Amino acid sequence: MSFLSASFLRKAAVVPALVGAMMLTACGGGSLGGGSGGSGGTSGSVKIGLSVPKSGTYAALGKDMEQGFKLYLTQNDNKLGGKTVQLVETDEGNGPQTGIPATERLVTQDQVSAVVGLVNSATASGLANTFNQNKVPLIVANAGSDKLVDTPSDYIWRTSFTNGGVNAPMGAKVKEEIGSGSVYLLGSDYAAGKEQVGGFKKAFTAAGGKVAGEEYTPPFGATTDWQPYLNNVRNSGAKAVYVFYAGSEAVGFVKQFKQFLGGTGIKLYGSGFLTEGSVLDAQGDAANGVQTSLHYSDQLDNPKNKEFVKAYSDAYKTSPTVYSVQAYDAANVLAEALKKADGTTGEAIGAAIGKVGQIDSPRGTWSFNAQHDPDQKYYLREVRVVDGKRVNAVVEELKAG
Ligand code: PHB
Repeated sequence: MSFLSASFLRKAAVVPALVGAMMLTACGGGSLGGGSGGSGGTSGSVKIGLSVPKSGTYAALGKDMEQGFKLYLTQNDNKLGGKTVQLVETDEGNGPQTGIPATERLVTQDQVSAVVGLVNSATASGLANTFNQNKVPLIVANAGSDKLVDTPSDYIWRTSFTNGGVNAPMGAKVKEEIGSGSVYLLGSDYAAGKEQVGGFKKAFTAAGGKVAGEEYTPPFGATTDWQPYLNNVRNSGAKAVYVFYAGSEAVGFVKQFKQFLGGTGIKLYGSGFLTEGSVLDAQGDAANGVQTSLHYSDQLDNPKNKEFVKAYSDAYKTSPTVYSVQAYDAANVLAEALKKADGTTGEAIGAAIGKVGQIDSPRGTWSFNAQHDPDQKYYLREVRVVDGKRVNAVVEELKAG
C-alpha cells in the first residue's frame, strides 16, 4: 500500500470500523483524529502497536519485550498516562522481509497512534521513513542501528542503545586485561553484528589493541557450525575473542566456544546480549566466566530494579532481561508523553515525547540525548554462579568508550 493511499485511508476511515472497547471509551484516538484534546486529559483510549518477534532467531527476545511492556500496563490498570490502551500486536519475525510489512500495517491499516518494539537493526532502519512520513511515533525498544535516521525527529525515539555505544566501553577494558595480546573478532552476519563488533574494534584499536582477525558468520541467524572460525581463532594466536551474537546464535556459539577452545586460556568477551536471559540458561556452564558489557543486569543493586525484578518474576516466573526493561521503559515514556500530550494523535504524542525528561528505570534513571537515544551507564558483567543460580554479576561501571 502506498503512503498516499495510506494517508487518504487514515482521513477517510471512520469510526464504524471500530467496535467494542473503542466505542465504549468514546474518545479513542488512534490517528483517526479522535484525540481527547487538552494536555493532561485522563479519559479516553489510545491505540498502540507492539511489533516484536514471535518467531525466528530472536523470538525469545520478543517474548521478553512483550512481557516487559505488558507488565507496565498491568501495573497501571491497562492505562498509559490515563488513557485506556487498545494494544494491537504483530510478529516482527526474523528480519526485514517480514518485519517491515508487518509493522507498516500497524500504521496504515490499524492506524495506531504509536508503535513500540523492533529487535532487528535492519528492520528498524528500513522503517524509519514510514514513521516520519505518516507522523506516527516509533519507540524502538531494542534495535541498535548506529544511524537510524540522518536527523532526529519527533517520530523516532529509542529506549535501548546504539550498537556502537554498548561495545565501545569494552575497548579500553579488554586492552587493559590482555595487554599486548591480540583479539579475534567474530559476529553475526548482518548490520547489527558489524556495528556491534565495529564499536568495540574502534575503541580497542584506539587504545592500542591489536586485532588478530575479523569474520562475520553467514547466514544471519542460522549459523550452527562455528568450528572453522574457532580453528582460525586458535591458529591466529589470539589471546581473546570478542563477539556479537544474540538469541539462538548466542547459545550455539558459547557452547561451541567452550567445546573447541575451552582450556586453551583464550578469553571470551562480547556485548551483553551474548549471555542475556533465556540464552544464559541454555548455555549452562559453558557461559561461566564470559565477560560482557550492557546497560542492564537483573543483578543491579538499586531499589527500582529490586521492585521491578520482584514484580516481573511474580508475574512471569522468570527473571527480566534487558529486552524486558527496554520495553517497560517504552511504556513508561509513552505514559509520561500521554500525560503531557494535547490529544492522542501521533503528532501530539511525538511532540510530547520530547518533553518527558528523566525516566525512572530499573537500569537507573536516564533521559533521551540529542539523537533521541538513552543517555545511560554501561556495566562490565561476568557470568558467575551466585546462590546456586547462573547470573550476569555486575563487576563495575565501565568508563565511556
Ligand atoms: C539488532 O539487530 O540491533 C540487535 C538484535 C539483537 C540484540 C541486539 C541488537 O540482542
